[in-house]
Amino acid sequence: LLVDKGNHRHFMAKEIYEQPETISHTLSHYVDMGAEKVAIRETLPFNFADLTRLTMSACGTAFYAGAVAKYWFERYARLPVDLDVASEFRYREPPMQKGGLSLFISQSGETADTLAALRYCAGQGQHVASLVNTLESTIARESGVVFPILCGPEIGVASTKALTAQLTALASLAIAAGRARGSIDEATEAELVRALTALPSAVSEALAAEDQIRDISKRLSKAKDVLYLGRGPMFPVAMEGALKLKEISYIHAEGYAAGELKHGPIALVDEAMPVIVVAPSDELVDKTLSNMQEVAARGGKIILVTDAEGARTVGHGVADIIEIPHVHSFVAPILATIPVQLIAYHTAVFMGTDVDQPRNLAKSVTVE
Ligand code: AGP
Repeated sequence: LLVDKGNHRHFMAKEIYEQPETISHTLSHYVDMGAEKVAIRETLPFNFADLTRLTMSACGTAFYAGAVAKYWFERYARLPVDLDVASEFRYREPPMQKGGLSLFISQSGETADTLAALRYCAGQGQHVASLVNTLESTIARESGVVFPILCGPEIGVASTKALTAQLTALASLAIAAGRARGSIDEATEAELVRALTALPSAVSEALAAEDQIRDISKRLSKAKDVLYLGRGPMFPVAMEGALKLKEISYIHAEGYAAGELKHGPIALVDEAMPVIVVAPSDELVDKTLSNMQEVAARGGKIILVTDAEGARTVGHGVADIIEIPHVHSFVAPILATIPVQLIAYHTAVFMGTDVDQPRNLAKSVTVE
């Protein structure tokens, strides 16, 4: 298989820019856009209505996909979710009730810890499902049902288009689970499917902030530490932003739940500390913005990722606002990953690192 960078300097940039198409492609597998319904093609060896629990396990960026999906499954399918990084889960050996569903998320399908977690769950009498990009992988082979993410080969070590494809598929599965369990009605399903269908063009619009993000990244490249804050489903987006920055720019970064700030990390805040706040308008935005004001009051340099409504409600004290289009809050975490990817990418380019092959990292971690 021959994959080239097209007009891009790095595979990572190409993969970031492919996302309007890759998300569309994933959607066309999971959603009947005309009927405004989710249509799962895979034969399910379980019934969503009968499940008492969903257990998800993954590593790195795939784990953050699970962390966003936890909100969706709990909220829209009223399904209790257990989520853990696979390297912890496999040795925790939690007791599991037979007949539960275990879902493993892995771009490569070869991550050693995720595979070990899968084998543990299979041994506990769980239905085993996986969400992978590589269908001919060990994780796919050992799963009772395999959900594809269909984003095409991802070459950059830093995962980008695989994450948004994983999220798109997980969002569709959450809708399917919600319908089967009777926790959402047909009208809500149609509303959520319309929200998903609107994503590719919103992603294209979000990508247009590149010039502004390049300027911000130039300043970020001089920082020693960067803090990312988010609340609710934006918390995993904040952690993903921090992971991406660490991986490719080698700048220390932390993703924190906005409400946890005053329990410790606010002590770090001073004029030298950029704080990236991921807060598109939703029912929690006011709370996040008030956490942000606490940072601003201590001289922290704030970079706010929000939509037009969020931008209107913030007062002074924000150094930069990266505006993303307003979308349904259901899909907002997918859209909000775009600016955090671009921030990491451009900061790494300014640092002059090997963006596609960062030091010490492998694309797929097949040994423990
Ligand atoms: C993401 O940018 C990483 N390089 C890494 O965290 C990755 O997501 C993780 O190793 C999981 O890989 P997988 O999806 O192939 O299982």
